[in-house]
Amino acid sequence: MAVTKIDKTQLKVGMFVEAIEGTWQDSSTLGRRFTIRSGQEIDMILNSNISGVFINTALGKNTSGLPLHSGAKNIKSATKQDRFETATRIEGHAAEAKSLIGDIFEGRVVTVEAFTPLVDDVARTMEENPSLYIGMSRLRSRDSATFLHSLSVAALLLHFGRSLQMDDETVQHLCIAGLLHDIGKLSIPKEVLQKQGPLNAAERNIVEQHASLGYDLLSANLNMPTLVLDICRSHHERLDGKGYPDHLIGDAIGKEVRMSTICDVFDALTSARSYKKGWSSQQALSWMMCHEEQFDKGLMWQFILSLDPEMTKGIL
Ligand SMILES: [Fe+2]
Ligand SMILES: [Fe+2]
Repeated sequence: MAVTKIDKTQLKVGMFVEAIEGTWQDSSTLGRRFTIRSGQEIDMILNSNISGVFINTALGKNTSGLPLHSGAKNIKSATKQDRFETATRIEGHAAEAKSLIGDIFEGRVVTVEAFTPLVDDVARTMEENPSLYIGMSRLRSRDSATFLHSLSVAALLLHFGRSLQMDDETVQHLCIAGLLHDIGKLSIPKEVLQKQGPLNAAERNIVEQHASLGYDLLSANLNMPTLVLDICRSHHERLDGKGYPDHLIGDAIGKEVRMSTICDVFDALTSARSYKKGWSSQQALSWMMCHEEQFDKGLMWQFILSLDPEMTKGIL
């Protein structure tokens, strides 16, 4: 893979910058993708709020650079046999998730500790074969689709958090957030949620209420971590402010929420539904990379780098 992340202090003239991590007010000066042409340009970057830089060594100067994340294995493509053998296990996890989500939905107080066995199970499965939650769309009956989607997003967020070397508590909360992010959908009428084909404007409006409905539901559960509440409410926000429910813009959307949006959309695009085929990982990632008005480009690169090169062929 030709893209690697380096610290901004490692920049050299001749490197090709593919994306940046952090906020940079001067992006209009050099463009979004550019070759470093002078020490002055390096100084501009050093004096900015950019925290990391992604360089493309196929298009510019090479570097010894920092090693990529060491805390997580790449997500590898699973064989058919892998998928068959683990289908039952994943259905078990989904049933566990369904039971916990159901408890909260019905107003019972569920502590973070109650999620620990499931989070540990997801973490173990991801250690053994990180691709098992990806592309499980064939398992998704309409009834269990939301729970399997939530489980996939939880597993992706856990893996993503680990690959970014986030602390254990944050990774645990990311996983719980993945499990609960769409809990508000349980309040949406099934005939709308399970409608075959595209939704009309009124129906879309109803479905979009799931983010704030879920947030209200989780807020009633006293010990719910802030990160879980934030992701539940804001996972459909977009960097350009065209998301919902609060139309947050840019920096108002926290890093963990941006991560959740990436995992949520990636799983949605790669999953088959009654009215559409699932996209390949490459198709989904390429599409997402072309929509930086929605997704954080630096985090997108981090996400891609956490996946197996087989799944990202043709993107670079
Ligand atoms: Fe959602
Ligand atoms: Fe979702």
